[in-house]
Amino acid sequence: KRCVLAYSGGLDTSCILAWLIEEGWEVICYMANVGQEEDWETARQKAMGVGAKKVYIEDLRDEFIHDTVLPAAKCNAIYENVYLLGTSLARPIIARRQIQIAEKENCIAVSHGCTGKGNDQVRFELAYYALKPDIQVIAPWRLPVFFDRFAGRTDLLNYAAEKGIPVTQTTKKPWSMDENIVHCSYEAGILEDPSLAPPTDMWTLTVDPKDAPDEEEELAVYFEKGNPCKLECKDGEFTDVVKIFHQLNTIARRNGVGRIDIVENRFSGLKSRGCYETPGLTILRSAHMDLEGLTMEREVRALRDQFVTFNLSKILYNGQYFSPCTRMLLAANDVSQEVVNGVVKLAVYKGNVSVRGRKSDTARLYDEKLASMDELGGFDPTWTSGFIQIESIRLRNSDEGKHWL
Ligand code: ARG
Ligand code: SIN
Repeated sequence: KRCVLAYSGGLDTSCILAWLIEEGWEVICYMANVGQEEDWETARQKAMGVGAKKVYIEDLRDEFIHDTVLPAAKCNAIYENVYLLGTSLARPIIARRQIQIAEKENCIAVSHGCTGKGNDQVRFELAYYALKPDIQVIAPWRLPVFFDRFAGRTDLLNYAAEKGIPVTQTTKKPWSMDENIVHCSYEAGILEDPSLAPPTDMWTLTVDPKDAPDEEEELAVYFEKGNPCKLECKDGEFTDVVKIFHQLNTIARRNGVGRIDIVENRFSGLKSRGCYETPGLTILRSAHMDLEGLTMEREVRALRDQFVTFNLSKILYNGQYFSPCTRMLLAANDVSQEVVNGVVKLAVYKGNVSVRGRKSDTARLYDEKLASMDELGGFDPTWTSGFIQIESIRLRNSDEGKHWL
């Protein structure tokens, strides 16, 4: 019996690897490169040393940007008004390749090292089942035979010593991190007291806004049907969407853009404190939302906000990306984006993103003459008298005065 393990190279998944082998599995280790800092070769050797049959190291960075990051940016996805979903966006991409490897290698099972309390286990497993309904999932941290035996870190360390697993004594940071091209998350450990400010040296992707340059940096993002298609900035011009995304990261990182600190509601209902830095996507989302203001029809925008943005964000967070709902919502969003063409000029400065103007050659709804307060531009002011009279009927007749006067 063969199984694909999502392997990180750390203590937990190395022990899981050894344990799966002990349980009689032939294990293929799989590492997904979604843009995190990692010593891939050392990890490969470690997995082989522990007894993996094979190690796959897959570069999923471009696929990640194309398949979940841009669609999310295109509908301004956001969870509980603050979290840009950096971890949630990577999970479906990672899970999909794991299933592809399982099929190729004739594996009947997949395994991961997520804890039993979080969102990630749900995201991985719902993706596995959606893509391969008959897959067997081994989640050791939810199996009593595993978690009773490895109740604490010392048990894992003893087991590692027994199995000859090298433990790289990196001075372990007192929190847990998850990094990819979109963001880095920090949770657990000393962050579990939500009243305490995170230490200033916790952040890894962005400079402290206080230390960012004293001069603002200007840039211009061009969109075509809601997709970024060109970036102009002091480092030059970029037209490839992957390069645009990386360059937005560079600009945001050096200017301290994208840090947040929140308490969020997990899918399970547990509350959790999380700190996140999401550099490039923070700029991209601001630019995109601004251009929608100029180009989108009011009711389309309102419907999209209530219906697409809210639900797709929830679906992403809750790990249901591979679902018919996602396809429906993305299709509706694409229709809403047909008019989102043009350019947004921005300035970033010490953690802030400001919009400095926008322009669209296809915007039919914004008419400078019609909008002007200095001329009528075809607008007849007598129209509004009737409009207000009609609007007032339900207010006049509902006897509201007694509640407000
Ligand atoms: N709370 C965030 C989310 O649910 C971040 C999760 C980070 N995951 C991790 N394995 N450290 O998307
Ligand atoms: C985990 O529990 O494995 C990480 C946190 C999360 O998934 O929410």
